[in-house]
Amino acid sequence: MHVVYPEQFETVIKMLDGTKAFVRPLKPAVDKDKLYEMYSTLSKETNYYRFLNYQPVTRWIVEQWCEVNYDDKMALVAIVKVNGEEKIIADSRYYIDKTTGEAEIAIVVHDDYQGQGIGTKLLEYTIEVARKTGVKTLYAYLSPTNRRIIHVIKKLGFTVKWVHDIGEYKANLPLQ
Ligand SMILES: CC(C)(COP(=O)(O)OP(=O)(O)OC[C@H]1O[C@@H](n2cnc3c(N)ncnc32)[C@H](O)[C@@H]1OP(=O)(O)O)[C@@H](O)C(=O)NCCC(=O)NCCS
Repeated sequence: MHVVYPEQFETVIKMLDGTKAFVRPLKPAVDKDKLYEMYSTLSKETNYYRFLNYQPVTRWIVEQWCEVNYDDKMALVAIVKVNGEEKIIADSRYYIDKTTGEAEIAIVVHDDYQGQGIGTKLLEYTIEVARKTGVKTLYAYLSPTNRRIIHVIKKLGFTVKWVHDIGEYKANLPLQ
């Protein structure tokens, strides 16, 4: 499959303190190390809320996550410059099941940048990109103690329902 980098999805997001983050589709060839740096320095709580388990993220796993094709596997990263060096501070992604048009969405903002409005804006932007790429419904599984994402995701229009069997919330957003 010929993969074309979707430059049209590049944008800039402003944080509450005025810092600007450059948001763009993940570039596997240049982002592996920066993405690993972000995931390997998350707090235990953030790691848990993102993956709903405490397994440490390995370099191998991050390499798998870099295998995006901007079609059924899409990832957007937020980048800031720290001491002249580019740093990935957030990663938002969705994987589409082509048979149903449903896509699971997940997001993480590095602890050092949480509470600055970036999670809300990046998620909002990811929804916009998902809509443009033909996703019919977005969904996510959330820990019941993750009050922050439950607040954010409801604010962005998702319905949130308790799934008794797995003890998690499922958030749902129809896009079409
Ligand atoms: C959830 C997450 C993506 C949010 O990103 P963020 O940049 O920290 O969030 P924002 O600054 O955009 O917004 C936070 C909102 O939550 C609210 N909030 C914070 N703590 C809260 C709490 N305990 N209960 C309810 N709302 C809370 C804030 O008031 C703010 O809402 P407002 O803008 O309406 O005032 C980020 O915290 C994160 O990466 N968490 C760990 C991973 C995760 O939970 N991923 C989601 C599952 S895939």
